[in-house]
Amino acid sequence: MLKEKLETLKQEVQQKVDKVTSSLELSDIRNEYLSKKGVMSSFMMELKNVANDQKPIMGQMINETKNFISNLIDSRMKELQDIELENKLKEEKIDITLSGYNFKSASKHPMNIVVDDIINIFVPLGYSVVEGPEVETDKYNFEYLNIPKNHPARAMQDTFYITENLLLRTQTSGLQARAMQANTLKTPLKIICPGKVYRRDDDDATHSHQFMQIETLVVGEHVTLADLKGTLDLVAKKMFGEKREIRLRSSYFPFTEPSVEVDVSCSCNNNKTCPVCKGTGWIEILGAGMVHPNVLKMSGYDPNIYSGFAIGFGVDRITMLKYGFDDIRNLYNNDLRVISQFVKER
Ligand code: DAH
Repeated sequence: MLKEKLETLKQEVQQKVDKVTSSLELSDIRNEYLSKKGVMSSFMMELKNVANDQKPIMGQMINETKNFISNLIDSRMKELQDIELENKLKEEKIDITLSGYNFKSASKHPMNIVVDDIINIFVPLGYSVVEGPEVETDKYNFEYLNIPKNHPARAMQDTFYITENLLLRTQTSGLQARAMQANTLKTPLKIICPGKVYRRDDDDATHSHQFMQIETLVVGEHVTLADLKGTLDLVAKKMFGEKREIRLRSSYFPFTEPSVEVDVSCSCNNNKTCPVCKGTGWIEILGAGMVHPNVLKMSGYDPNIYSGFAIGFGVDRITMLKYGFDDIRNLYNNDLRVISQFVKER
């Protein structure tokens, strides 16, 4: 009786397993027959009601059927899984001959290109790159640079004040004082300091309330105006080309004496209608000078022993000249049409 039942069961399972086409369906069949609440378990439960002497034989028969079903399902499962894996591999086959996507990589902003170019001129000459805070104290931005309160030179730079003594730096020149004071051994210094600066200007084609400067400072014994001039000449030629000349014009900055404004010759060959140099043949690119003795003194360097020179680059102006921008606002409005021109295709 039980024997026949189990035989029919085997056949039933065999038929089902033969028809099955996926491992998922086969798992359902496994659950139906072999799980805790499955068909085989219910056979086992019924053993309870069987006479004791019959139990071992019947138990053996049930177990044998269970193993049969289990082996049947296992071997079919393996077949199905192999087929499924093969199909999956076929479906997901990668065509390695297809060309890849051309991802646009991010690019350096043109001003950062100029900053890096200038840094790369100075670093091989022994200069260290130094950065400082954009929120600066009045002392570093003005006082240590020989611009005391009420000095008329403060009017040259309209300042964003945060408190009476705290401001958005109007120039990177404050880093001169910071670097000299930080150097407690008072040894010679050669630094280059790029950074953002801020002034209360109304934005137009040539003014921006935020712009960028690079400050360079050299302090040592016997540093002369000739050293400054030689450095400027080298920098102009590296930045704009070997044929370029420089011209120094006398100027005024409170923290340098003498002070100069530096022009570089235009590439237009004295074209009277050149829009870049306005027909003058010269383009103003930066301010510079010999560090004022007061500035050295205030930051702990003895002006009788030490002298130095400082240079202040306007990064915006140089970027505009170099890449032909006619409106400074295009450096700041993040217009992708502008910036993407500097993306290098891979
Ligand atoms: N800080 C000056 C400005 O913002 C630029 C400058 C001029 C910097 C002469 C210097 C310098 O170091 O020597 O107008």
